[in-house]
Amino acid sequence: MSILIIGGSKGIGKACTEELLASGKEVLVASRTNDEISHLPVEHIELDVLENPGALEGMFDELEGLIYCPGSINLKPFHRLKTQDFQDDFQINVLSAINCIQAVLPALKAGKGSIVLFSTVAVQQGMAFHASVAASKGAIEGLARSLAAEYAPDIRCNVIAPSLTDTPLAASLLSNEKKQEANAERHPLKSIGQPEDVAALAAHLVSETGRWISGQVFGVDGGMSRLR
Ligand SMILES: NC(=O)c1ccc[n+]([C@@H]2O[C@H](COP(=O)([O-])OP(=O)(O)OC[C@H]3O[C@@H](n4cnc5c(N)ncnc54)[C@H](OP(=O)(O)O)[C@@H]3O)[C@@H](O)[C@H]2O)c1
Repeated sequence: MSILIIGGSKGIGKACTEELLASGKEVLVASRTNDEISHLPVEHIELDVLENPGALEGMFDELEGLIYCPGSINLKPFHRLKTQDFQDDFQINVLSAINCIQAVLPALKAGKGSIVLFSTVAVQQGMAFHASVAASKGAIEGLARSLAAEYAPDIRCNVIAPSLTDTPLAASLLSNEKKQEANAERHPLKSIGQPEDVAALAAHLVSETGRWISGQVFGVDGGMSRLR
């Protein structure tokens, strides 16, 4: 059986791909590009979740896991956020995830699969300029708990809520040494996250080792959401 990683080609998703391959799993990656993972032994499915998320329907008989990685960091003062910003963030973070989950639901049921979705530290810890992304990611947390309840005991569903992690998505926030140091300093553990830090938990949650965990939201955030 395979684990499908939507957005497994870059950033946290790529680290999940590498981590799961290293533990001997069969990995399928669906994303727009595959340049960064073309050397890895994975099957790549070309997919833009904004264009055609239903493309995954009927493609798999059984799935052991689904990790959905596409997301956004759209930081603006609330008064400058347009309805379109909220709609765009909701589409990539929530609606496209829903479309993908529905498309592979029979395969997840057949494989008694585990779903991992991504939130952000900015849902539990209020942060200025995060209104749009936090609204969407808050919806992800509610969605995940609902799915976990509705599909137990067959399908598990959990959420990881990272703080700032060094990926292409966060590149503009970490574009020079000064920004990197200031961002590391904001965290109680005095560092920003690396994709591997987040992928390790995702791999656990989609694996047999995570078999008794469902409906949870886990902060992988350098202590940001809980420590002072
Ligand atoms: N990085 C952070 O600081 C941070 C903090 C909090 C939460 N998060 C959340 O963690 C998750 C992963 O973040 P990340 O930083 O690893 O993101 P990333 O660097 O942007 O990587 C996203 C992955 O999704 C794919 N993707 C993006 N748009 C897509 C589309 N329309 N259709 C298909 N695939 C698409 C990308 O591949 P292609 O370009 O090849 O399609 C890539 O593999 C996101 O949900 C993000 O909101 C990240």
